[in-house]
Amino acid sequence: MFDRPAAGENALLVQLDFGDGDFAERLEEFELLATSAGARPVGTITGKRGRPDPATFAGKGKVEEIVAAAAAADAELVMFNHELSPAQQRNLEKACERRVIDRSSLILDIFALRAKSHEGKLQVELAQLEHLMTRLVRGWTHLERQKGGIGLRGPGEKQLETDRRLLGKRVAVLKERLRTLERQRAVRRKQRGRGEVLSVSLVGYTNAGKSTLFNALTKAGAYAANQLFATLDTTSRRLYVPTCELADGRSGCQVVLSDTVGFIRDLPHALVAAFHATLEETVRADLLLHVVDAASPDRDQQMAAVAKVLAEIGAADVPQILVWNKIDLTGSGPGVERDECDNIARVRVSARTGAGLDLLRAALAEMSRKLAAPIEYDETQPHIDTHDHRHPDVAQ
Ligand code: GTP
Repeated sequence: MFDRPAAGENALLVQLDFGDGDFAERLEEFELLATSAGARPVGTITGKRGRPDPATFAGKGKVEEIVAAAAAADAELVMFNHELSPAQQRNLEKACERRVIDRSSLILDIFALRAKSHEGKLQVELAQLEHLMTRLVRGWTHLERQKGGIGLRGPGEKQLETDRRLLGKRVAVLKERLRTLERQRAVRRKQRGRGEVLSVSLVGYTNAGKSTLFNALTKAGAYAANQLFATLDTTSRRLYVPTCELADGRSGCQVVLSDTVGFIRDLPHALVAAFHATLEETVRADLLLHVVDAASPDRDQQMAAVAKVLAEIGAADVPQILVWNKIDLTGSGPGVERDECDNIARVRVSARTGAGLDLLRAALAEMSRKLAAPIEYDETQPHIDTHDHRHPDVAQ
């Protein structure tokens, strides 16, 4: 039912340059996305354009080049690292006589391959259906017609109506199930939370090393792979931070650490909506560890993309520490950097070698202390207390 390439399918990659920078990094990421979806890139077509062509996105001449290259390289599908409108995708498929996949479908496809939990699967299915609904138009099955060689029309209006109604029904069912799961999760969170522990979420661009760091800190064996979106389901583990010296002389505090889905620039809208409940965990955390692949030439853009998603889900104000990961590749040593208010701004680590992880644990302990301390209010200002202030006495 969905545009999912089978593993190992030959794909021609197309990326056009509209002058918005970091072209090479985007292309590299695109190749990793394609292979993460199980495709085998057999060629790349690039080119410059002022703006997309409304009918074919790439323009007539470029489409001819794509058709010739796809035939020469024996490509079974053509992948665009761009959003295509349903009409553009249809026109391109007609011209190429091959399946054409846009960036959203590609990312949705990887999510579909990776989702493991019941909730993750529901979220992906919902996102896929919503994406599909925009593409349910007459004539969409022209490829089948060509293959079958029967010059008949596409599905009639009646069939289309039925399909739309069925999809609409399924979407409603999925939304209701996800709402129920979200309610159950909220209850669990309440039971778990109760202000006893510091809740920390790992966030970061896909492939930054979140799962590796999660494993290194908790020894949990979460799935880490050089594939995009290896982690789709939020995993949480308790973690004891022994380096914490509390004011009353006791040492140690507990942290609940959650690994979350990787972020990526231009995350398909349907996915953001479908994963909203999962991402909300992030919003509710006491502290975010923003993991950055310090060795990536694209790291500034990746950090900006993460900041954008955090703002979209309302998590921009959650306290944050940058975790400058993969320092084994950059040659810099482990360390802690502070801002002008003496708050920890950045910790340099290598999740792979373990360098700097002691500093990160100490940073967590320090933040736990700071966040648990009573906040002083300006009595002249009215305030609404919505935050859960924990006290170190209950942390052990
Ligand atoms: P998503 O699931 O896509 O969000 O990825 P992630 O952020 O969880 O990344 P993951 O932990 O899967 O790591 C991605 C790749 O980077 C893997 O090949 C890791 O082995 C590698 N990696 C992670 N941390 C380090 C590090 O400190 N140094 C080096 N050299 N490689 C690392």
